[in-house]
Amino acid sequence: MKILVLNGPNLNLLGSREPEIYGRTTLDEIQAGLKEQADGAGVEVEFFQSNHEGALIDRLHEARGRVDAVVINPGALGHYSIALRDALAVLDCPVVEVHLSNIYRREEFRRHTVTAAAVTGQISGFGPLSYHLGLKAAIELVRSRRQCKPGK
Ligand code: DQA
Repeated sequence: MKILVLNGPNLNLLGSREPEIYGRTTLDEIQAGLKEQADGAGVEVEFFQSNHEGALIDRLHEARGRVDAVVINPGALGHYSIALRDALAVLDCPVVEVHLSNIYRREEFRRHTVTAAAVTGQISGFGPLSYHLGLKAAIELVRSRRQCKPGK
């Protein structure tokens, strides 16, 4: 089983970026923890972060039919990128959207993501644990062979 973990804009700055909201854990540290979790579960994991919408979309296209599930923190793109939403919608595998912060108790503009309707489920508000819960969900979904989009 292979799972792609994608991170969008500004998440490369985790650790120093608004630590009162996002904490002090760096993306490298989060990814190292996910690798450990994946190794323990006998799953292969690959990571990609970009500040560019098109690069994230290209990576999703490239992953089509090659990975078994996707865990994505779209960052701010989740709030407005229809193009990213459309790229997620064509994936025929479990997709878990994760956010470090609880986007529903923040500014009004963060309380909606256009990507949510194109993913299997969303986890928000648990800091780095959001990624671990997201990876666990992705693994379980693949193992139980549940379709990411029932009826599709
Ligand atoms: C975020 C929440 C977004 O609103 C924000 O733009 C981010 C990070 C989170 O992980 O909490 O970049 O996705």
